[in-house]
Amino acid sequence: MNKIKLANKLNISPLIHGLWRLPDWNMSDQKLLQLTEQLIELGITSFDHADIYGNYSCEEAFGNALFLKKELRRDIQLITKCGIKLNTHKFPERKIKIYDYSYKYIISSVENSLVNFGTDYIDLLLLHRPAPFFDPEEVAKAFSYLKQSGKILHFGVSNFNPQQFDMLNSYLDDKLVTNQVEISPYCLENFENGNMDFFLKERIKPMAWSPLAGSEILLPQGEKGQRIFNSLSEVANELDVNSIDKIAYSWLLKHPSGIIPIIGTGKISRIRNAIDALNIDMSIEQWYKIYIASKGKELP
Ligand SMILES: NC(=O)c1ccc[n+]([C@@H]2O[C@H](COP(=O)([O-])OP(=O)(O)OC[C@H]3O[C@@H](n4cnc5c(N)ncnc54)[C@H](OP(=O)(O)O)[C@@H]3O)[C@@H](O)[C@H]2O)c1
Repeated sequence: MNKIKLANKLNISPLIHGLWRLPDWNMSDQKLLQLTEQLIELGITSFDHADIYGNYSCEEAFGNALFLKKELRRDIQLITKCGIKLNTHKFPERKIKIYDYSYKYIISSVENSLVNFGTDYIDLLLLHRPAPFFDPEEVAKAFSYLKQSGKILHFGVSNFNPQQFDMLNSYLDDKLVTNQVEISPYCLENFENGNMDFFLKERIKPMAWSPLAGSEILLPQGEKGQRIFNSLSEVANELDVNSIDKIAYSWLLKHPSGIIPIIGTGKISRIRNAIDALNIDMSIEQWYKIYIASKGKELP
């Protein structure tokens, strides 16, 4: 599987494995290690986390699995996020959920992530969400310290719009390398809010979270999901492809911006379907069939 270059010295796999749902998978450290090794063998070497996943438990669980085979660290790229402070029993002093991008909090969050993963560096740190209270000078100071200390190799953001991305970038020496946003046949928001044009202009490859809309396009509960399901099934028939999740992934991979889907399942057969999608090439007409099904109306 060819790697994708996000920056000088940052090459990641064209599919990322996302660990948000890890608590649902009920895996022992050994099982998670096995899965991770299988993924690396298949060419998926990049792993997406956040400090808060699993109520602050997923990074540590992944670190425990890595501990069983420490040499894997050099074969993988670790992505994690910071900035959201959950109101949870783990932090009884917090009365409400807030976003904190102060120098002090960013550093302490990263220090924590490093301990959780049992590593001394993280390949890519993302700011999890844009915030109404945000001091880019504090963020720049934190990034500069983290870079110089070798604790974080690269920086990016998640769920930012072009203005927010540009604003932060203007304060940074080490430029942002990606924006992780929700993109799927169900969620077209980033085609419509200027982000996709911005990615193309800036040559930024976006990461797509919830590429299957959390399964709504495979097991639809609503009318829109059903329309998309029908269009995916039609295209699957036309291309003689046996599983419609492959079509959903290939719809993302087809886009000229170089979307990198984040796979949300822990089931190896479903992960293999995502890999198969790398070899499917739909026509532009088929791409639009799915887009139009999602919109629920013809193009203007
Ligand atoms: N930056 C952000 O704000 C943000 C937000 C959300 C997520 N993320 C990242 O994005 C990753 C992926 O998100 P996601 O988990 O929502 O992705 P997703 O692929 O849209 O949804 C995964 C869900 O779909 C189900 N699924 C997968 N393949 C299926 C199939 N063939 N048939 C039926 N169901 C199927 C999975 O169930 P099974 O587990 O049973 O296969 C799982 O419940 C996360 O792990 C996280 O790393 C980032």
